[in-house]
Amino acid sequence: MNARRTKLARSQIDRVTSPGRRLPRRGFLARAAAGVASLWAAPYVVPATALGRMAPSNRVNLAMIGAGNQSTVDLPAFLALDDVQLVAVCDVNRASFGYRSPEQFLGREPVRDQINAYYAKKTRSGQYRGCDAYVDFRELLARPDVDAVEIVVPDHWHAVMTVLACRAGKDIYCQKPLSLCIREGQEMVRAVRKHDRILQTGSQYRSSALVRHACELVRNGRIGTLRKITTLVAENNFTGPGPGWKPMPVPEGFDYPRWLGPAPQAAYHKDRCLYRFRFILDYSGGQTTNFGAHSNDVAQWAMGADATGPIEVEDLGAEFPPKGSLFTTATKVHFRARYANGVELVCRTRAPGFGARFEGTEGWIQVGYKFDSSPASLATAKIGPGEIRLPVSDDHYRNFIDAVKAHRDPISPVETGHRTASVCHLGNIAMQLHRKLRWDPAGEVFLGDADANHLLSRGRREPWKLSP
Ligand SMILES: NC(=O)c1ccc[n+]([C@@H]2O[C@H](COP(=O)([O-])OP(=O)(O)OC[C@H]3O[C@@H](n4cnc5c(N)ncnc54)[C@H](O)[C@@H]3O)[C@@H](O)[C@H]2O)c1
Repeated sequence: MNARRTKLARSQIDRVTSPGRRLPRRGFLARAAAGVASLWAAPYVVPATALGRMAPSNRVNLAMIGAGNQSTVDLPAFLALDDVQLVAVCDVNRASFGYRSPEQFLGREPVRDQINAYYAKKTRSGQYRGCDAYVDFRELLARPDVDAVEIVVPDHWHAVMTVLACRAGKDIYCQKPLSLCIREGQEMVRAVRKHDRILQTGSQYRSSALVRHACELVRNGRIGTLRKITTLVAENNFTGPGPGWKPMPVPEGFDYPRWLGPAPQAAYHKDRCLYRFRFILDYSGGQTTNFGAHSNDVAQWAMGADATGPIEVEDLGAEFPPKGSLFTTATKVHFRARYANGVELVCRTRAPGFGARFEGTEGWIQVGYKFDSSPASLATAKIGPGEIRLPVSDDHYRNFIDAVKAHRDPISPVETGHRTASVCHLGNIAMQLHRKLRWDPAGEVFLGDADANHLLSRGRREPWKLSP
């Protein structure tokens, strides 16, 4: 097998066999006990047996910040875990005003009611009111009984909320892309480590057996020396208003100033906010970061590049909406990144919108929603005892809760999320500047390009300029 091993630099090959290092279990049991005390003091009590097999002291009290589109996936996943208790939800949107379908619950009140109804079904009285709703996430962070938070809000809030959650001693499941820009990602890494917190990045394909299999094959040289990776992102699924668009009145129950938060002041339009924020550079990075945080994450994992990044990035003909449009992110994503070991990664808009194709000197593997390879036998190939094994997780939410309880890194820790988001941000910067850029992945700076370096950070409005 050694002869067939990929020629990735040894320093980039990570022989991890378990999900990261163990960290001191500081404070978890004490916080868990405090949380349980407050929960069980509530008038509508769910007995431990009704909630599942876990004893109360083993339960993780979780609060959800953001009750929009992705919460409809994440909330049921966390509710299904016996040892998790959803104690609070926060959203600047009080209740749905029909941005998808009238039936879809969205906003803090419908989600709070849904959580209470879920637990009520498990009580003899059929009543439960233990989940609270907040408009200001700082109030929720101030609760001593909250062990962990999920941050499932637009990307321009991820860093501020993560840093404040770390300072408040909470563990964090932060949705992908981890950051809005590279400097914010670095800030998040520092905060998590300084405050000794657990952070899972919501790039959930690290918990896919198919993806893990593909990455192990690539790492073990089963397609020979890796030469090229093509990663896919989806086409934009909305077109915003073009130049000359008109502001709209803010809907009742939607706290728009709190939604904007650290982002620049801007007139309200419905296509600026719920779900569509991902197509505006002030809040997100378009499909480059939206789907790129999955596809490029698979590429980074297969290369063993979680502690590094490319050394060069260039635009290959990206397209953007006309100047003056509300949407500002690429309508067609196409960039190339080169790594120090000679591997080139091309990221582009193409159906099915998620996946990575690895080409080596002896074959290829394509993985995403399904697996395909040449030779075809790779689909069922076994990884031998002396070969590189990657950490195993089959459920990203379960993996996070286990990591919180054991106080050890989960499968997608903060550094991993940061480096994957960085690949996407680098691509966006190259596409915006339409030129080839040299990147120093150790110092995390562009070499000899002041304009590019300027795009590594974003300004923040008060009171969201956090001291280091
Ligand atoms: N892992 C995945 O596959 C996946 C899929 C979709 C979205 N996401 C990520 O989830 C995050 C949210 O995306 P979405 O599609 O759910 O967006 P969304 O707009 O539908 O929902 C976001 C919610 O956050 C709320 N919000 C905004 N600012 C807030 C604040 N300061 N405090 C409290 N609530 C606030 C909004 O009102 C909204 O209800 C994004 O980072 C996105 O990239 C991940």
